[in-house]
Amino acid sequence: MRAMNCPRVCLLLAELLDLALGYLTVSIEPLPPVVVGDAVTLKCNFKTDGRMREIVWYRVTDGGTIKQKIFTFDAMFSTNSSHMENYRKREDLVYQSTVRLPEVRISDNGPYECHVGIYDRATREKVVLASGNIFLNVMSPPTSIAVVAADTPAPFSRYQAQNFTLVCIVSGGKPAPVVYFKRDGEPIEAVSLSEPAVGTAALQDSRAFRSLLHRDLDDTKMQKSLSLLDAEGRGGHPYTEGPFRGLTPDPSLVLQPTTENIPETVVSREFPRWVHSAEPVYFLRHSRAPGSDGTVEVRALLTWTLNPQVDNEALFSCEVKHPALSMPMQAEVTLVAPKGPKIMMTPTRARVGDTVRILVHGFQNEVFPEPLFTWTRVGSRLLDGSTEHDGKELVLERVPAELNGSMYRCTAQNPLGSTDTHTRLIVFENPNIPRGTEDSNGKLLLVALPNGN
Ligand SMILES: *[C@@H]1O[C@H](CO)[C@@H](O)[C@H](O)[C@H]1NC(C)=O
Ligand SMILES: *[C@@H]1O[C@H](CO)[C@@H](O)[C@H](O)[C@H]1NC(C)=O
Ligand SMILES: *[C@@H]1O[C@H](CO)[C@@H](O)[C@H](O)[C@H]1NC(C)=O
Repeated sequence: MRAMNCPRVCLLLAELLDLALGYLTVSIEPLPPVVVGDAVTLKCNFKTDGRMREIVWYRVTDGGTIKQKIFTFDAMFSTNSSHMENYRKREDLVYQSTVRLPEVRISDNGPYECHVGIYDRATREKVVLASGNIFLNVMSPPTSIAVVAADTPAPFSRYQAQNFTLVCIVSGGKPAPVVYFKRDGEPIEAVSLSEPAVGTAALQDSRAFRSLLHRDLDDTKMQKSLSLLDAEGRGGHPYTEGPFRGLTPDPSLVLQPTTENIPETVVSREFPRWVHSAEPVYFLRHSRAPGSDGTVEVRALLTWTLNPQVDNEALFSCEVKHPALSMPMQAEVTLVAPKGPKIMMTPTRARVGDTVRILVHGFQNEVFPEPLFTWTRVGSRLLDGSTEHDGKELVLERVPAELNGSMYRCTAQNPLGSTDTHTRLIVFENPNIPRGTEDSNGKLLLVALPNGN
């Protein structure tokens, strides 16, 4: 009701004094990306020589189809006489309207608009509108990271080299974070199998990789391709270093043009055989899955031909760089073969007719990846007639006396190694089940026993 403070006559006076049409410019101050949880102030600046009517802030969603009012300032009710003074003197005035989001959320990400209305000078009734807009970019640091082995549980392969894949899963980040691997603290130089969008370095990598695939993979040629990768990747690849650090190759040899026609002799002299056997070729792939909330789940897959002798106890870490993280986030795993399984049998003193459970409940060491467990009965089939049983636990239902002294083997293996453990089953007489009530197959016949005996 403050509008009433200025008598009607002063409005009329103002109208008479101001013959020209007022002007109005509106702009929203640009904002750098903000991080979830930050306090954000959106600032709408506008300049006018007219009299302000209203300010409305909108949050624009659904691709512009929905505009939700988040703030309204109505000068009819809020203005006071000083504004009137300004109007009368016809000063150019700069106003600022601010909207504060105290703890910004991912859902606040998106466009905002500030609409300003001033009274038209000529009619005093009509309202002239102008607006400004801004896109509030809300970043979110990744919230979780995990390194797992693909295709687990998987067996140990004694006679054949097999590919092994580590998967690093990073979720909750917006925008998508950069994810990479290190081995024993050193960045891994990997052949990138990533989809586009990584720039020319990736294109060159994949070109080199294709040429690598199309060759016979003997050591010499493999090393040639690697040196090619190394030379091309330099200055382009964001976070990896050459695998041949520490070696000082003759520059005249390595800095050949980056075509495929490097004479073979050149590289084989530069990189002795042991280098190749010590440094496996790593392949790196990335995949991205956008979530409904605007965050992106990134999976980085590192694949190489496992060498259990060299890779057992190797420490792999997955690191994440993201603009909303002050320091890299990381997760690590150590590849370890299973050793010394701990076996537990229940009941500890089994009697004929009891159900016996034999369980692997741990190892002497931390094992990664999760082992594959296989149970067999030494020299015979299992109670149910099968030759083996997969799983941590072997259940022998209603053990017959014939199983007394039978031997069970548990094989625990992962791609790094395999270990066997044996346990012998001792079954004691059960006073409730007299001898000779079992059938010829060694299974118990279910006999009705009087209660309480
Ligand atoms: C009214 O004007 C005074 C003096 O210019 C100012 O301090 C005050 O904030 C104004 N009030 C409103 C509601 O705009
Ligand atoms: C191992 O992985 C690489 C890269 O994905 C592939 O080219 C190669 O054929 C694989 N080797 C085996 C034995 O699966
Ligand atoms: C099983 O063998 C143990 C000795 O190894 C013996 O003490 C026990 O009585 C046997 N149980 C049965 C049901 O024969």
